Amino acid sequence: MKALVAIIYLLASVLFILGLKKLTRVKSARNGNRLSSTAMLLAVVATLIDMGQVDYTFIIAGVVLGSAIGAIMATKVEMTSMPEMVAIFNGFGGGASLLVAASFLFEHAFAVNQPLTTAMALDTTITLFLSVLIGSVTLTGSLVAFGKLNGKISGQPILFPGNNVLNLLLVVGILGATVFAVGFNQDPHTGFIVSMVVIGLSCLLGILLVTPIGGADMPVVISLLNSYSGLAAAATGFVLANNMLIICGALVGASGLILTQIMCKAMNRSLANVLFGGFGQTDSAGGGGGGKDADAYPTVKNCGPEEAAMIFESAREVIIVPGYGLAVAQAQHATKELADLLIKNGANVRYAIHPVAGRMPGHMNVLLAESNVPHEQLYDLDQINDDFQNADVALILGANDVVNPAATKDPASPIHGMPVLKVWESKSVFVVKRSLSPGFAAIPNDLFNYDNNMMLFGDAKKILTQLVHELKEIVD
Ligand code: TAP
Repeated sequence: MKALVAIIYLLASVLFILGLKKLTRVKSARNGNRLSSTAMLLAVVATLIDMGQVDYTFIIAGVVLGSAIGAIMATKVEMTSMPEMVAIFNGFGGGASLLVAASFLFEHAFAVNQPLTTAMALDTTITLFLSVLIGSVTLTGSLVAFGKLNGKISGQPILFPGNNVLNLLLVVGILGATVFAVGFNQDPHTGFIVSMVVIGLSCLLGILLVTPIGGADMPVVISLLNSYSGLAAAATGFVLANNMLIICGALVGASGLILTQIMCKAMNRSLANVLFGGFGQTDSAGGGGGGKDADAYPTVKNCGPEEAAMIFESAREVIIVPGYGLAVAQAQHATKELADLLIKNGANVRYAIHPVAGRMPGHMNVLLAESNVPHEQLYDLDQINDDFQNADVALILGANDVVNPAATKDPASPIHGMPVLKVWESKSVFVVKRSLSPGFAAIPNDLFNYDNNMMLFGDAKKILTQLVHELKEIVD
């Protein structure tokens, strides 16, 4: 039986890796998801076989309840709320590792009135505490991230003097208590209390690590917490001596870290700066102020779809820049309709995809794939940025921060240094959005003041539908 379990675990591991590989391409992502889900099912079945005699009542109840909740959430969640859902799932993952580790502690030490020093081997106790620590930080950190993203908690960084010092003290306290409980304490009752203190301090640390982070840095933190949930699971795998859990945890931990690094690179920020910098807090001129105020935009110009259609009619090189607002408006089909019309009219139409446009990696690719935009029309920032100078029109659809010239021109801006799409180099720029409100980073966008820029105010889907209508009038 052990051999069968090992073979199924091996098969599941291979499927997990293949699934991850397929998730890197829009076309194969669905299959990747199916492969990984199958792998998870195999892993659960093999674990149950390995455990031998188990009471299936709670397991079946858990599977039915969990599947129902998962199915409802998956069908109900808006594409734009995905980061929130990932945040809460990360929290559940961390919470599960915490619960498993804590129950192991109770079962093998406190329930049998043993101090940790004699109840189990030193390496097991150390991994147990690691699992408790990372699981607690992931649980509370993810809950705060979830609250920030759905607006229950302020999305801006919440910093207080001495925040980082307090975090450092908490880490020292947690490590000190762990060393005492694991290496020196001989009294089961004291061991129990110290373990509870470690859990409490770790939960507090999770909260204090995430509250100072906000604005455009939230997706990075979610990816990092995702990685933590994997590490917590891997640590729990060591405690339970379950190879599958170690492999799954390591895969989640590594992929989360890689994703975090990709995002930091795309924003030209270091991870330390994201975690401890407090986005936009140091800058008084450019940061956090919003920029909704009309005073920030003395030379802004707006036009209607009819006027815009005339410029589009004569445009030969058009670059479309999708952003978060396109997803909110669900305007991907209207975008494709406009692009098809422009191509029919003789224009070369390309899409410029910024790596952090939207709210999650690949957000824009997935959105445009829904409306069957050919993959060859999508260009990464590096591939297309030098072509804006030859473009007749840059059409910005619900994007803001990723086209903000402050990133290259204003050293005081919180996003200074972040690579952005140089849309302002095009002959004409049209920005489609509902107002002068800022983007996720909550900073003003001087592009709106530029001479060659025109605002097309309104919901992206509505504006694009009108634009298509007007263009058809001219072209047909
Ligand atoms: P944002 O800068 O957030 O701007 C989106 C704009 O869409 C808003 O200014 C909003 O303006 C507009 N909008 C909202 N609903 C709309 C609708 N129905 N119709 C038309 N416009 C609408 O988006 P972005 O340019 O895509 O930038 C992404 C941000 O997320 C960046 O700050 C980036 O650093 C951050 N971030 C993303 C990631 C990933 S992985 N994607 C990771 C880390 C950070 P109105 O309210 O005026 O309409």
